Amino acid sequence: MAKVTVVGAGNVGATVANVLSFGDVVKEVVLLDIKGDLARGKALDTWQQAPINHYSTYCVGTEDYAETRGSDIVVITAGIPRKPGMSRDDLISTNAKIVNQVTTNILKYSDNPILIVVSNPLDVMTYAAYEAAGLDASRVFGMAGILDTARYRAFLATELGVSPKDIQAVLMGGHGDTMVPLPRYTTVAGIPVTELIELDKLDAIIDRTKKGGGELVKLMGTSAWYAPGAAAAQMVETIVRDENRIFPCCVKLTGQYGLKDLFIGAPVKLGKEGIAEIIELELNEGEMELLNTSAKHVREVIDVYKKMDLKS
Ligand code: NAI
Ligand code: 2OP
Repeated sequence: MAKVTVVGAGNVGATVANVLSFGDVVKEVVLLDIKGDLARGKALDTWQQAPINHYSTYCVGTEDYAETRGSDIVVITAGIPRKPGMSRDDLISTNAKIVNQVTTNILKYSDNPILIVVSNPLDVMTYAAYEAAGLDASRVFGMAGILDTARYRAFLATELGVSPKDIQAVLMGGHGDTMVPLPRYTTVAGIPVTELIELDKLDAIIDRTKKGGGELVKLMGTSAWYAPGAAAAQMVETIVRDENRIFPCCVKLTGQYGLKDLFIGAPVKLGKEGIAEIIELELNEGEMELLNTSAKHVREVIDVYKKMDLKS
């Protein structure tokens, strides 16, 4: 059974550890944070929940990377979240250094782990982890699309008065306001969503989805964690179970969709070795234009990252 490390024991990291433990599909979850006692406390609390919720996954907290030795999968949530008025991109100067340092430390103790990046700005932090890790691109990717489609699906479920279970959707692009929900690939129990909802209502839901993270920051003064944590845990479970489920993930494109040398959201098949396949949809002209606009924005943030001095 797999060993999983979650770096960052804050809101998102602790949720990943908790949801993952509930799933009972991994042997051990190591929760690591520079605040060692916070990690130890949240891990102990999660382990003490095991007899109540009937799982065997052992959760342990630490600040010592030696305890992450031999991790199969590492989820990186370390970094600062945004406050009201901030965009995800405003976090780059702090979080790029953290992600770089975390990745380097992880690789000292685990040879060929799969890295799932959560820290923001997501697309560029995934790029940063990939550069620092030196692993194959199939083993370094980011969580955003599952969360963004979940928001889209939840809003549609409310509007249509149906279960969110029956709503399937694909969403592409960067994890920001330029993300690209794809109504043409959205179905409700197999029925194209456009047959069930007026266009203006669908447009309003798409707009709300794009700003979905900001809506929660306004409500809570910090960013969300339940759905983000559950989304990252779902990626881990899929990998551990080698399910080949199809999810939108932030991945390195190497020419797909006419894009390369960047990490951005696209539908992928996820299995035991990470990204088994990047799926190329036949996007129409309008969809391609939206994707290119999103890619342009991601590249602008990558350029900021490339000019940074990560050592200072
Ligand atoms: P948080 O502030 O609750 O937790 C972050 C934790 O990281 C803190 O406990 C902090 O001590 C720890 N940390 C900082 N530097 C560290 C280091 N060098 N090594 C180890 N741990 C370190 O923040 P929260 O809400 O958990 O968010 C974490 C990150 O995830 C943020 O960057 C946030 O923007 C991002 N996020 C991304 C989402 C996505 O869809 N990709 C969704 C939600 C949040
Ligand atoms: C979210 O979308 C802040 O990226 C985080 O909730």
